[in-house]
Amino acid sequence: MRLKDDEKAMLDGREGPAVQRAMELLVRYGEALGAEEMVDTKNVGGTLFIPTRGGDAKTADFHAIQSMFNLDSEKPLTLPPVKVPSMQFQTHMDPDSCAILGISDSDRDYYRANEAFVRSLGIQMACTCTPYQVGNVPVKGEHCAWMESSAVAYINGALGARTNCEGNASTLSAMLTGKIPYWGYHCDEYRRGTHLIKVETPIETFEDWGLLGYYAGLTIQDKVPVIEGVTALPSKDMLKQFGAAAASSGGLEMYHIAGVTPEAPDTAAAFGGNKPVETLKFGWEEKKEIYEKINCTAESNVVDLVMLGCPHYSLEQMWNLARLLDGKKIKDSVAFWIFVPKAIKLASEESGYSAVIEKAGAKIMAYACPAMGHLIPKGAKVMCTDSGKQAHYLPNMTGIQAWYGSTEECVNAAVSGVWEGRLK
Ligand code: F3S
Repeated sequence: MRLKDDEKAMLDGREGPAVQRAMELLVRYGEALGAEEMVDTKNVGGTLFIPTRGGDAKTADFHAIQSMFNLDSEKPLTLPPVKVPSMQFQTHMDPDSCAILGISDSDRDYYRANEAFVRSLGIQMACTCTPYQVGNVPVKGEHCAWMESSAVAYINGALGARTNCEGNASTLSAMLTGKIPYWGYHCDEYRRGTHLIKVETPIETFEDWGLLGYYAGLTIQDKVPVIEGVTALPSKDMLKQFGAAAASSGGLEMYHIAGVTPEAPDTAAAFGGNKPVETLKFGWEEKKEIYEKINCTAESNVVDLVMLGCPHYSLEQMWNLARLLDGKKIKDSVAFWIFVPKAIKLASEESGYSAVIEKAGAKIMAYACPAMGHLIPKGAKVMCTDSGKQAHYLPNMTGIQAWYGSTEECVNAAVSGVWEGRLK
């Protein structure tokens, strides 16, 4: 790789051994991918929590743990404070909800010690997979280094920022150096559309956008779809849902919606002069097929878990949920869990939404990703969710059956204990 002077200095060890090791990793990573240079970044997001169960908070050396897991160094290195603005994304538990989640005091203490370590490096403790909902909204063209597939799809597709889907080691290295290899979605040519998806059925609801996203990921995997024919402008929550579903079913990281997303004023612009490799259609038949596929793990319609907030819910979604749950009572046999960023939990409390939601019997949790922590209530067998991503992951990870449908259908199932959703 062609390195600039500041990059060579870091590689030579002039900023200490941890930064040197981070630069070495980035060079190896870049060379393996064929990148010729680095790009500067001032917006890095990842997770520095090791989801260990049974760790000892009193003896844990997080510098050594990070050295081993994320800097590929057997020798413990002391991590300096981060060099550029860096954010902690979602974690594997909510330390304020351990009793509900069945997490032991010692695991909570370990989490708190890990948290203190991350904080000591100067990292912003947003603790969410939706950093763009709590102030981290990169501008069009901004080079970022983010992990978390749904967030990557959101900032590439909906915002026009630039990132690949990074891992723990590359995000820690980017935090320490302010550099990331210049390849993939940092470059114009990779961002152009590859496949055209013509929408021939109304896509209007949050649920519809999840189905379309799941279809896009499943059919074209990690290529770049250009969606054409959407007649109703999606909300930011709908785009969040679309990207998350597509990232889970197929590893999608970048997309265009003609006339909606910033690099797609129209279909031709989204392809940037390229011809589509393939043209696909998403009509009623495809929608039905995807609905059946996403619900394929569900057999019993007796529900014992409702899980919302994957990706983490927005304040608008909390408002909507409060309206749906107002005056209702969740059946005793059903656990109802909602995941949000901490900042939105606080705003929801201030807005009065949380009081309504909790009065109905639901639990609101922050920080955590249920899939990352394998978080389901003990003995739960059948869940329902309005998240295409969670309907995909949790059955695979935990064996639970999952129904996918609208938020309203999830609320109805919570009250009656019976899933009665259907494709609309
Ligand atoms: Fe967020 Fe976890 Fe869902 S990271 S998008 S809550 S699977």
